Amino acid sequence: MQIGTPLSPNATRVMLLGSGELGKEVIIALQRLGVEVIAVDRYKNAPGHQVAHRAYTIDMTDDKALRDLIAQEKPHLIVPEIEALNTNTLADVESSGIATVIPTVKAVQLTMNREGIRRLAAEELSLPTSPYAFARSEAELQAAIDAGIGYPCFIKPTMSSSGKGQSRITNASEVKTAWDYAASGGRVNQGVVIVEGQIDFDYEITLLTVRAKNAAGETQTYFCEPIGHVQEKGDYVESWQPQAMTTGALQESKRIAKAVTDSLGGLGLFGVELFIKGDKVWFSEVSPRPHDTGMVTMASQRFSEFDLHARAILGLPVDVSLRDAAASAVIYGQHETNNLVFDGVEAALAVPSSDIRLFGKPESFIKRRMGVALATGKDTDEARGRAKLAASLVKPKVAPKTA
Ligand SMILES: Nc1ncnc2c1ncn2[C@@H]1O[C@H](COP(=O)(O)OP(=O)(O)OP(=O)(O)O)[C@@H](O)[C@H]1O
Ligand SMILES: [Mg+2]
Repeated sequence: MQIGTPLSPNATRVMLLGSGELGKEVIIALQRLGVEVIAVDRYKNAPGHQVAHRAYTIDMTDDKALRDLIAQEKPHLIVPEIEALNTNTLADVESSGIATVIPTVKAVQLTMNREGIRRLAAEELSLPTSPYAFARSEAELQAAIDAGIGYPCFIKPTMSSSGKGQSRITNASEVKTAWDYAASGGRVNQGVVIVEGQIDFDYEITLLTVRAKNAAGETQTYFCEPIGHVQEKGDYVESWQPQAMTTGALQESKRIAKAVTDSLGGLGLFGVELFIKGDKVWFSEVSPRPHDTGMVTMASQRFSEFDLHARAILGLPVDVSLRDAAASAVIYGQHETNNLVFDGVEAALAVPSSDIRLFGKPESFIKRRMGVALATGKDTDEARGRAKLAASLVKPKVAPKTA
């Protein structure tokens, strides 16, 4: 493995497609290794734009816009950070030998749509999942529920993330609202929803799984310690590492994560989402990239999930060891404005062993994730208490208008 000098003809160039808070950290990790990074997002001044060598604002679902930018920038690696991409363009780019798509085009294509990844996991790999069906109309949705999915169930657009368009319903009177919400909430409106029976889990985890080269140059699978998390309306609000698990549940989690990531292939870090009850484990979904709940690794691990992704995709060795029990807690915008300021940062950082990230998003919404508080502790309970306290002390406010 050779790394060039940034901004010279021999630079090692990586293009991030999507440059939010997770992409921003991947960019910083890559730059520490001397990589030249090009950040792309759909809006100006995205978090990753602010730390990259070059920044572009394009519609990444537009074949020509994406193709032209890749031709102009000639990245060696293309690293998707979001799902709303033109994956046909990426498939073409890779097959013409222009650049490598991380981790693979297949992984990006299958995970952008809940139907692709669910059928792979449940039907091809025979992994345990919630009962599910796909519906193209409200009538089909009702029929699928009546045919066996039952209540309570979750209805989600097939193309969405962070809980967008998702609802949990408990009876037939809620089906219409759930259908309308899912059909309008999808990113690329396909008019297809997935309905899943509810899994009555004890807790849920993200198992960060890394495919990286070992000393012998072979691809090996490494597992970080499991991350526990709390979701509200499909959006993560708190995470901690390590999550205590039985030996049986941890083994089964690794088996499922290995099966899915082996099938998706390539190099990089994956966030495998699993539901756990006793020793039983269900596969939920997987991100072929750093995971939002994995932000805790910025405090807990020797190398964060972003460092690990950067190393793995460059073909470098990884070290997934845990350093401290730690936790993360989300800081929401709480206001709808493009003029946000954060009060109380000094109080938050006075919490023992705390840290924060403010992402620098130009526009705030009430429930937009604008930052995250991190903390370590003697155990995850102490870390969670500190992270939540630190997050609560950061007070987003609308700045007074200046002349
Ligand atoms: N079938 C299910 N049974 C029980 N809980 C579920 C089920 N499906 C979803 N949930 C709950 O909703 C959360 C979000 O679901 P899911 O991960 O499918 O949505 P998402 O929009 O992809 O969210 P994100 O992008 O934040 O991962 C899950 O982490 C879990 O807490
Ligand atoms: Mg999820």
